Parts: sequence; structure tokens; C-alpha cells
Amino acid sequence: MNTSPSSTVAARPCRQPLHLGSLRLDSQIVQAALSGYSDLPMRVLARRFGAAYTLCEVMLDQFLANVGTNRRNLARLAIAAEEHPVGGQLMGANPDDFAPAARRLVEAGFDCIDINFGCPVKKVLGRCRGGYLLSVPETALEIVSRVREAVPEQIPVTLKMRRGIDDSAASEEKFFTIFDGAFARGVAAITVHGRSVVQRYDGPSNWDFLAAVKRHAGDRIMLGSGDLFSPQACLDMLAHTKVDGLTIARGAIGNPWIFEQTLAALDGTDPATLTPPTVHAQREVIAEHFRLACDLHGEQLAGRSLRKFAIKYAKLHPEPLLVRDAFIAAKTTTDWQAVLMQHYHTDAPGRDPSGDIDETTE
Ligand SMILES: Cc1cc2nc3c(=O)[nH]c(=O)nc-3n(C[C@H](O)[C@H](O)[C@H](O)COP(=O)(O)O)c2cc1C
Repeated sequence: MNTSPSSTVAARPCRQPLHLGSLRLDSQIVQAALSGYSDLPMRVLARRFGAAYTLCEVMLDQFLANVGTNRRNLARLAIAAEEHPVGGQLMGANPDDFAPAARRLVEAGFDCIDINFGCPVKKVLGRCRGGYLLSVPETALEIVSRVREAVPEQIPVTLKMRRGIDDSAASEEKFFTIFDGAFARGVAAITVHGRSVVQRYDGPSNWDFLAAVKRHAGDRIMLGSGDLFSPQACLDMLAHTKVDGLTIARGAIGNPWIFEQTLAALDGTDPATLTPPTVHAQREVIAEHFRLACDLHGEQLAGRSLRKFAIKYAKLHPEPLLVRDAFIAAKTTTDWQAVLMQHYHTDAPGRDPSGDIDETTE
């Protein structure tokens, strides 16, 4: 749940273009960066279903310095021709290491470079990366300057931040120092996740805070993040916070239809009338996801890379638990096809997963 019951929402938002520096996006609906998930197959499907822009999972500066020619490493940098514009995201600790890493992302073909000041994972914080940087504005802003200077002018640089380290006034002050300082150093947009770093995924994303930041931002481009699990939630966040764009995260894993449906809602369809995809529509997309994963990783690894998505796809099936267990047990391509044959053979209406509690965390 979030802090904006739909009954309090006034004007209905509609589809609007979104500008990230030189990039003009067709709508304000974006696929968020998701470590372990937002790889080429997920992003391609998100784009086909209408996401205006997608972000690759975060990459460490050290990983980018040592990518080499290893197939698995290169797969993480792979971009399909059809998916542009796509953003690459960077994480690190030392400002000196960001410039070469940012250039490597540009060389790989990413159209925008996003910097991660949000990751709440303990190991990441312990290494002074991700969300930790919200506690040291000087270092954070030095990183922004180094990245902005390192990449060509036409490539936008953006930031992803949580709303602060914690709920203290000092944390909020640091948030605004970084927010304003980053724009002053040339970032094109900032995405704010309305949870604090210590909060991790407990409790709601604070949309009142996002609204206050957008009022502060004025014309500067801000995207909102947190608790976007349905088209209605997307409309509500836009109406409540007035942010310029949204990044859909967990709500898009195993549910690319959320993009199509959110755009329909922005174009005037009543979200209450939108129905989940049928079992046959689901089968087609899961099979395509598997094909894309095979092309990228090879057949052996595709099944493994897809299992975590399949568990989420299963939530849209009328028999979610049965299908989830069948996907978990599938090892080979033949097993995968058998699950689709057995459980997706007969068409039926799909199930709406948006009311489920999502316990996926970074
Ligand atoms: C499994 C997982 C991986 C994530 N990886 C990233 C990442 O690589 N970069 C990033 O900026 N945010 C990452 N996030 C945060 C999401 O982009 C998003 O801000 C957060 O999940 C809140 O949105 P939601 O409540 O709608 O899921 C991740 C979140 C999850 C659950």
C-alpha cells in the first residue's frame, strides 16, 4: 500500500512524452533497473509491450573494467537493435573509477548513463557503494561530475536515489544537497524511490515525499519509483506526486502486460475494465521470453535464467501454485515445453496478480 488512496486523486493523468536530455521518450512509462532481471530479454519484451525506455540491471565499475570476452559477461552488456533507447546503470565507490566505466557503457551502446545511489544491500553499503553514497554528498557529487565529464554531451546522465539513508532531518538535507547539486552538474533527470535505505523493502514507498520533491524540482525532470504493481497504481502515483515519469520495477517481472495496460489507462480506458492476459497470450510471451534467453545465453543457461521469471509468470495463471511448482521442477528445454504444453494448452482467463504481496528484494 502507498500513501495515496485513489479516492483522493483529482485530475486523471494522460500519456505525455518524457525528455531525458536529448532523448525524447514516447511516454512517461519506464521499465526500472532490476538487478538479476532487467537483461536483454526482459527489456525487449517491455519495449514490445510499450515501455518507452528501459534500464539494464546495475553494473559495478570493477565489472566494467574487466568484462573481457567471456560470453556471460558480454551477455550482461548485450543490447538488441529494437530496444533503443536503453539505459545502462553504474555502481561504484571511488569517483576515479566511474569515468572509464561510464565510457565502457557508452561503447557498449547504451543511450543514457544512470548512476545508482540507492542500492540497500548490506554488502553494497559495506563497500561504500549504492545507497551509502547518500550519506556523503561531496563524494556523490564528485561521482556525478566525473561521469558527466566522461561521456559525450549528447548522452544524458541521470541518477537513481532512495529518499535518504533514514528518516532523520540530516538524511533529508543530504538528499536535497545531492538532488540539487546533481542537476547543477548537468544530470538530465533523477529517479527517486520513496523508501529509505534502512527501510529496504519494509513498508510503503512514501509518495508524499515524492510529491514534495517534485514541487521542489519544478521543471527539472523527476521520475518516481515504488509500489507500482498495477495500471491504477501508476495513474495514482502520477496524480498524487505530479512526477514526470514512472519506473515500474517488481510489477513488471513476469508481467510485461503492465506497460500496455498502463498506457491504455493513460489513454482513457478505465483500469477496472482491464483484464489480465489469457492463458494462451501468456504462453506466447513465455515461449518468446525463452527464445530470447536461448539466443542470449545458449539453451543450457536459458532455463536457469528464466526460472525466476517463470515463478512470476505463474502468478497470472488460474492455477498459480501448481504452475509455479512445475516451472521450478523444469530442468531442460523439453521440460519447459512440457510445462507449457500441459498447463497452457487450454485457454482461460488470466489471474490478476496485483493484489499479491511481492517479497522480491534486491
Ligand atoms: C530484485 C530487485 C533488483 C533491483 N535492482 C535494481 C538495480 O539494479 N538498480 C536500481 O536502480 N534499482 C534496483 N532495484 C530497485 C527498483 O528499481 C525499484 O526502485 C524498487 O523495486 C521500488 O519499486 P517497486 O516497489 O515498484 O518494486 C531493484 C529492486 C529489486 C526488487
